[in-house]
Amino acid sequence: MSADQPLVLGIETSCDETAAAVVEGGVRVRSSVVATQHELHERYAGVVPEIASRAHLERLLPVVREAVARAGVSLGDLDAVAVGNRPGLIGSLLVGVSAAKALAWSLGVPIVGVDHVVAHLHGGLLRDAGEAHDSSDGPLPAPALGLVVSGGHTTLYVLAEPDQPVEATYRARPIGRTIDDAVGEAYDKVGVILGLPYPGGPHVDRLAATGDERAFEFPTGLPQRDSLDFSFSGLKTAVLYAVRPPPKRRGGEITVVAVPPLDDRRRADVAASFQRAAIGVLVRKVGLALDRHPARTLLVGGGVSANSRLRRDLAALAAERGVLLRVPPMAYCVDNAAMIAGAAFARLARGEHDDLSLAACASA
Ligand code: KG4
Ligand code: ZN
Repeated sequence: MSADQPLVLGIETSCDETAAAVVEGGVRVRSSVVATQHELHERYAGVVPEIASRAHLERLLPVVREAVARAGVSLGDLDAVAVGNRPGLIGSLLVGVSAAKALAWSLGVPIVGVDHVVAHLHGGLLRDAGEAHDSSDGPLPAPALGLVVSGGHTTLYVLAEPDQPVEATYRARPIGRTIDDAVGEAYDKVGVILGLPYPGGPHVDRLAATGDERAFEFPTGLPQRDSLDFSFSGLKTAVLYAVRPPPKRRGGEITVVAVPPLDDRRRADVAASFQRAAIGVLVRKVGLALDRHPARTLLVGGGVSANSRLRRDLAALAAERGVLLRVPPMAYCVDNAAMIAGAAFARLARGEHDDLSLAACASA
């Protein structure tokens, strides 16, 4: 199958997913292969950096080969190699960056480094190669705001290139971010508190659907209600104390507070009440951001954009404000390499690329 538009191979190894994808023209996904390492990190209830980088080393080349084969192309058909080179776990990033450099050099094509977090905003622009255009296709109206909600980030952006079509925008200016835990991290910690498998986000989401969301009144972040920053660590601690309250000191005596057992009903109620608080604050801050930075398009991405309540509530907000909402198809919410290739295309389209001095960078 030949390509009408440039073919970019994307490589993603910033955390615990080893991924490669071939994307045509920045949006049509010819293949996307993701090897998760969840089984390796589950027993630690979090990602262990050294285990992650070793697993990337073992898995990356087979994953790249599979992505190229599934795309129905050969390595020689590729026009560029893109890699998420920041932010992330440094050892993991180095595996992807080194492989991308070797491939780009041997194929004689440009290498393009992209910011993993900004790349999440391209998730909502992707569609599978076989999918027909629908009437909603076409240039996205500017200006645009972005929201990235993942395991490591919770950030609101203004897409900062007003002269560029939204699809070709790469630079994004942060206007609000979490001052402590990311929302995905809070989901994963609540998952641990409730004894759910790792990572907890999707499990908490499913369990929440069966509980009473009014059972607990959890705090929703920063006291300054007009701030565009987020805070999720107080919410996470409130969930912990609802399940396992700290001992109380009365006079010289310390007493243990008794709570009902954490049966299925109570777990579902805690999950539902947590979800109401966490998603409520995200949607409220997006509303606030739209008041201050009027936009016609809202791009959302990152693992938590798979959340059922966030998708539902953002759709309602966008309809109410007359804003076009782009949320990734489920497969492109969590870490993947198609979004990396998509973001790289935006840079390539304006003549930008990197060279073999490209460095991996742990922070953004
Ligand atoms: O974007 P991502 O794959 O990795 C980072 O860049 O961090 O996001 C992973 C995060 C995890 O915290 C996971 O629990 C969360 O996304 N997640 C969800 C859902 N699906 C994945 N959180 C809430 N609801 C979901 N349905
Ligand atoms: Zn991510």
